Amino acid sequence: MSAPLHQRVDIALGERSYPILIGPRLLEDASLLGTHITARSLLIVTNETIAPLYLAKLQNALQGRRVATLILPDGEQHKTLESYSRILDALVAERMNRDAAAVALGGGVIGDMVGFAAASYQRGIDYVQVPTTLLAQVDSSVGGKTGVNHPRGKNMIGAFHQPRCVLADTSTLQTLSPREYRAGLAEVVKYGFIRDSAFLKWIEANVDGLLAREDSAVMHAVRRSCEIKADVVGQDEREHGLRAILNLGHTFGHAIETASGYGNWLHGEAVAAGMAMAAEMSMRLGWLQQAENDRVVHVLKRLGLPIAPPRIGVQRGRELMGMDKKVLGGRIRLVLLKGLGHATVVDDYADPALEATLQAHFG
Ligand SMILES: NC(=O)c1ccc[n+]([C@@H]2O[C@H](COP(=O)([O-])OP(=O)(O)OC[C@H]3O[C@@H](n4cnc5c(N)ncnc54)[C@H](O)[C@@H]3O)[C@@H](O)[C@H]2O)c1
Ligand SMILES: [Zn+2]
Repeated sequence: MSAPLHQRVDIALGERSYPILIGPRLLEDASLLGTHITARSLLIVTNETIAPLYLAKLQNALQGRRVATLILPDGEQHKTLESYSRILDALVAERMNRDAAAVALGGGVIGDMVGFAAASYQRGIDYVQVPTTLLAQVDSSVGGKTGVNHPRGKNMIGAFHQPRCVLADTSTLQTLSPREYRAGLAEVVKYGFIRDSAFLKWIEANVDGLLAREDSAVMHAVRRSCEIKADVVGQDEREHGLRAILNLGHTFGHAIETASGYGNWLHGEAVAAGMAMAAEMSMRLGWLQQAENDRVVHVLKRLGLPIAPPRIGVQRGRELMGMDKKVLGGRIRLVLLKGLGHATVVDDYADPALEATLQAHFG
C-alpha cells in the first residue's frame, strides 16, 4: 500500500526542530509513524470521546512496540493538575524511562496536558502530538506551550516543551462537530487577517471546500496556518512582542467567553466576534477601509461564525477585557489591523474609537 500524500511543515528551532505532517489517514500509516516516532516505549493519552474513534487505529499502526494507554475524561474542566497527575502515575506504573515518549491523541486539552507531563516527567521526555481538532492542528501544535488550568485561572501552570513531531491527520476532522470545526476556522482566517492577505484571498475563494472539509482545502489551510504561526513564534519564541498579534480578537473574545459562561460560546466563536470588533475599531481609527472591514465581516459570516457578541454591557465588557482600575490608566494593549494582512499591537490608540466600538457591540 502506498503512503497517502501528505504535506510537511518544518519548525526550525535548532536541535529542537520538528516536522508537522499534514494529511488524510496519517494515524493509520505504520511506515510514516515508524519513521517519525522512534521511541520503543510509548504512552498514548487520549479521552473518552476520542478513544473509541481513533485509539485502536493508532495502536494498530504502532505494533511492535511497547504501547500503554491512558483514557482521561473529556472536557476543559478536566484540564487540571489531577489529570496531569494521572498521566505521571501511568508513566511511573508503566516504568517508562527517559527514552520513552508520550503521545497526545486529541484536541488542545489533551495536547496541553500531555505536553506538560512530558516536560516534567524525569525532567523531560519526548512527546508526539496527534491533534484531532482543527484548533489543535492549526494552533496548539505550534509554539511549544503546554500546561493545565488552576482553579483561579486558565493555563496558569505549565512549561515550554516542543514535541518531537506533530501528525495532523486531517481525516480525524470528519468526526468533529460542525460547531467545533467552524470554531477552528476562526483561528485559520485569523492568520490571514494578521499576516497574509493572499491566504485570506485563498480562504475567501475556498469557503465551500473548507466547510465541506475537503482534504485538499483542509490540508492547505492547516499547512499555511502552521507556517504563519511558526513564522511569528520563530521570531518571538518566548512571547516578548510580535507573538501578541496571534491574539487578534482575543481580548474582546475573552470578555465574550467569560460573560456568557462556560461552554455557551466556543473559544473560536468568541474570537470571531472579537475579530469583527477589532476590525471595526481599526476602521474607526482610519486604519482599515470600510470595504476591508466588510470583507472581514463577510468571510466570518460565510464560515458560519458569529460576528455580533452578546450585549454584555460596556462596563462589564471593559472589566472582563482587563481594563478595570488595576490596569494603569485603564489602558490595555490591543491587536488591531492596519490593512488586511497587517496586525499591529498598540496601546496608544484613541480612546473614543474603543469607546464607540464597545458601545456599538456590548452596549
Ligand atoms: N498550547 C497552545 O499553544 C494552545 C493554543 C490554543 C489553544 N490551546 C488550548 O487548547 C484547548 C482547546 O482545544 P480544542 O478546541 O481542541 O478543545 P478540546 O481538546 O476540548 O476538543 C474539543 C472537543 O472535541 C472533541 N474531539 C476532539 N477531537 C475530535 C474528533 N476528531 N472527533 C470528534 N470529537 C473530537 C473533544 O473530545 C472535545 O469534546 C484549550 O484548553 C486551550 O487552552 C492551547
Ligand atoms: Zn485562540
